[in-house]
Amino acid sequence: MTDLTAADAVTDAAAYAEAAAFLLGADWLTDSERTVRTVAVRAELRATGSYRHTPEELAHGAKAAWRNHARCVGRLHWKALRVVDRRHVTSAEEVFDACVGHLRAASADGRLQPVITVFPQRAPDGSAIRIWNPQLIRYAGYRDADGSVTGDPLHVELTDMAGSLGWQGRGGRFDVLPLIVQMPGEEPRWFELPSDAVLEVPLAHPEFDWFAELDLRWHAVPAISDMRMEIGGIDYPACPFSGWYVGYEIGARNLADTDRYDLLPLVAAHMAIDTSYDSTLWKDRALVELNRAVLHSFQQAGVHLVDHHTVTRQFVTHEDRERRKGYPVSADKHWIVPPLSASTTPVFHRAYETIEARPNFFRQPAAWR
Ligand code: ARG
Repeated sequence: MTDLTAADAVTDAAAYAEAAAFLLGADWLTDSERTVRTVAVRAELRATGSYRHTPEELAHGAKAAWRNHARCVGRLHWKALRVVDRRHVTSAEEVFDACVGHLRAASADGRLQPVITVFPQRAPDGSAIRIWNPQLIRYAGYRDADGSVTGDPLHVELTDMAGSLGWQGRGGRFDVLPLIVQMPGEEPRWFELPSDAVLEVPLAHPEFDWFAELDLRWHAVPAISDMRMEIGGIDYPACPFSGWYVGYEIGARNLADTDRYDLLPLVAAHMAIDTSYDSTLWKDRALVELNRAVLHSFQQAGVHLVDHHTVTRQFVTHEDRERRKGYPVSADKHWIVPPLSASTTPVFHRAYETIEARPNFFRQPAAWR
């Protein structure tokens, strides 16, 4: 018999409440199975301070986390998520190998599949595996002597850290960063991704021949690797997940934001638009053509992605279906409404409520802080 302090008892009760709430939604169990499982989880929590999900609970929990995520406009497909259980890994190499396997399965020669790879849960002492990269595939950003950046300015800090761990980048605009993996209580280690695991699309424009000479590209798979998934009170701080891109993420943000690749002035110059007045709408016109290039290039390459009209229409279909089932739809309008042509999409005209439902994905402090 261990001594249970009042604080332990409170934590215990909170952890149990989270677990019990999750199991209440376990509609694949019969009532008596659910009761048996809930009692077993309580015993495991008391004995170890934690509990392990069954493979079924993990699969259902991961899908529910996607379904509940207020910032995702692509949730129509939540049931199709493939859940890869890698909770048994014990080394950084195994984490890296599983991430490479994730990218290969998710890319599927361009017929992108939604996948999540789940690594061991946070231990009762708080320790956890962390992937330092915000996504499995990210481009380096090199700070030059004059303060300007070659590559993706968003990743200057990560590029510097990779450098301090011994990685040497080639100094290009689209150099794939190594994967940095940190096991509990160990130093971080970096691994170069094999090129066959990194599907990329060179960008061209359906009408402007000069566009291809800009020599732009983007990676096919957006695989978020720094968020934590929470299911029934259990934390999975390393659980890379991916679907496919909405064109604007690349065309209206990654390549267009002034603190990212900042390409609108260059595109406008090639289009010979007067950029001396905002009212010429040079930014808007360049933005549309950049987005056409992204959609066109992915389609030509046979790599799946979706445009903002289609994805928002799919979202309202999903939303209406959920409401008919009596399932509350949580959505963060800032994230659901496209960054271009907002008012031409149905989501602009609807009201949304942001509920922090669980299971869900959450931001967490950077691993190196
Ligand atoms: N916006 C991020 C990026 O441009 C990706 C976020 C996840 N997006 C997705 N379609 N699953 O890389």
